[in-house]
Amino acid sequence: MLSSHKDNIILVGMMGTGKSTVGAHLADKLGYRLIDLDQQIVQQAGCSIPEIFAEKGEAYFRDLESDVLDRVLQEGGIVLATGGGAVLRESNCKCMLGHGQVVALAATVEEILSRVGEDKNRPLLAGGAKQRIETLLDERKHAYLFAHHHVNTTGKSVEQVSDEILMLCRG
Ligand code: S3P
Repeated sequence: MLSSHKDNIILVGMMGTGKSTVGAHLADKLGYRLIDLDQQIVQQAGCSIPEIFAEKGEAYFRDLESDVLDRVLQEGGIVLATGGGAVLRESNCKCMLGHGQVVALAATVEEILSRVGEDKNRPLLAGGAKQRIETLLDERKHAYLFAHHHVNTTGKSVEQVSDEILMLCRG
């Protein structure tokens, strides 16, 4: 059976809330293709995310992120793991809402910190991960509210989170 856009599952949420790990598990379970938005951006740009931020700046990264998001959401039968800031543009949120079930993952600062640590691949956490996470969570406290569904991943296994998402999206 061909899958349509409305079957897509789109994961949003702060860095370290489990989007990529849960996305891979869900895609496997559903027989869907996993698309990692950051990986697609890196492929399109031909360099790493820290390099894009350092050499071209965040605005350039956000433009690329919107372009790639539009492109990948033309497909059906996908689980899309987005980057934490993909929700910052209203046009991106509209596009996501029109092309699948949007699920926002959340976690406590402590849990996020234990997952991302002092990750050098996340330029927005440079200069003190804990404080940067707290600041970003505060700045983005309303940014994930547009999602159809919300799941807190703190203290839960990948299987538990995936099952919760499937219950919410497939009822
Ligand atoms: C970002 C999150 C990252 C990546 C980039 C910016 C953000 O993705 O897109 O570093 O603004 O929160 P992850 O959420 O997969 O870490």
